[in-house]
Amino acid sequence: MELILDTGNVIEIEDLYTHLCIDGVTTNPSIVSKEGKDFESLIKEIDSIVGRYIPIHAQVISTKFEDMVEEALYISNLRENMYVKIPVTKDGLRAIKELKKQGVKITATAIFTAHQGFLAAKAGADYVAPYVNRIDNISGDGVSVVSDLVNIIDTYNFNSKVVAASFKNAQQVLDLMKVGVHSVTVPADICKAMMAHPLTNWSVDKFIEDWSNVFGEGTTTNKK
Ligand code: G3P
Repeated sequence: MELILDTGNVIEIEDLYTHLCIDGVTTNPSIVSKEGKDFESLIKEIDSIVGRYIPIHAQVISTKFEDMVEEALYISNLRENMYVKIPVTKDGLRAIKELKKQGVKITATAIFTAHQGFLAAKAGADYVAPYVNRIDNISGDGVSVVSDLVNIIDTYNFNSKVVAASFKNAQQVLDLMKVGVHSVTVPADICKAMMAHPLTNWSVDKFIEDWSNVFGEGTTTNKK
């Protein structure tokens, strides 16, 4: 299962990429705007942290088919392992179909139903990104939508991965792991929440205290 970071903040990316096994970085226009940096420079900055083999996903702003295709080709050529995010509007689905013919890597995004995810997979999207928390916020069941979509993709052997997006807590991520989601993209705070438990730190402190009560300061190598 893939763990992707949903952020454009290079400090967060560097920190989490250094400590964890991270399979990619996703951005969207809101995430990029938050950083207030030139788009192309930001992608290059992220690239310099994660290296050329780790996928970076970035989204088109255009909404018309022809413009989406043109913008997607520009984004796709920014670096080697670039996934272009295309929202699953009517024009977007057409753009996905066209861009796949041209060999562009695609992440279909802004997915709110399993039907939309199915249509994007059928159009050839490499990733399909349902928005868990935004579905929950409209009295839907984000985990259930993602679960249905994973089932459809796996049952019919689509060449797409479900990358669940839009999380507000770590429990949503766990619920999706239990239904076999292929990939999740999480903001840094949720990634940190997945890592942390106060009793882990307490346990480490207790181990050190017990050790030093008998052997004094130092480690198993006996070096101080
Ligand atoms: O990247 C798309 C998705 O993760 C958006 O998340 O938190 O803005 O709903 P959020």
